[in-house]
Amino acid sequence: MRYFLLIFVLAIATVLGTAGYRGTLTRKSPLELFPDMKRQAKLRPQSETHNLFWEDNRGSRLPISGTVSRNSPYEDTPLNTGRITGTTNFVELNPLPVTRELLERGRERFQISCSPCHGAQGDGKGITTQYGMAGVVADLHDAKTKKIVQQPDGEIFNTISNGKNTMGAYAPNIAIEDRWAIVAYVRALQLSRLANVDEIPADKRAALKK
Ligand code: HEC
Repeated sequence: MRYFLLIFVLAIATVLGTAGYRGTLTRKSPLELFPDMKRQAKLRPQSETHNLFWEDNRGSRLPISGTVSRNSPYEDTPLNTGRITGTTNFVELNPLPVTRELLERGRERFQISCSPCHGAQGDGKGITTQYGMAGVVADLHDAKTKKIVQQPDGEIFNTISNGKNTMGAYAPNIAIEDRWAIVAYVRALQLSRLANVDEIPADKRAALKK
């Protein structure tokens, strides 16, 4: 019994001595029984450190090229919105110069992002139509009403960016310039069905008739 009391008193003294001073102010470093990784070797971000791991000794890496600051203001320009600045009207023409390069890029991006549904020719007969999407996907040539053919470039850009009815938005997947490249390529696809014989150079017409 005597030992019990002794141990009991010692135990209380130990608990009070270690835990009892929590919250009090002192200049001495605290006694930490379980430091819980509160202090560990680390590099401070945005600071010059003695980081020997990287050649430039920086605490953090530079952002990769092409990184867009989240603080950068969203600009209401035709390039970003497909609309005339300050209005809700779509721009008639692609704000990027339509070069061969842009079209090649557009073809590549179209074949990746659009052809599964709209088909390589844009006729709405992509592979997904064999798996339950038959009759849903728009034919971009839209032979009957020519509705999509007559749309301004900005409206197609808007459809790609934000989706339309049952079509999802592709803004998160396709960069702005690439969306315009796709618009240019969709125009080329449409032209391929609309051109008439007179637009073909005379010396090539014979070959066409064969
Ligand atoms: C997952 C399938 C799918 C993909 C991928 C897809 N679309 Fe569509 N798209 C649709 C469907 C479905 C419609 C018809 C929407 C409706 O009106 O119900 C449509 C409609 C459209 C229209 C007509 C919109 C209108 O004004 O009626 C355009 C233009 C278009 N898509 C362009 C594109 C382009 C360009 C891409 C590639 C960036 C693309 N789509 C990718 C399924 C898709």
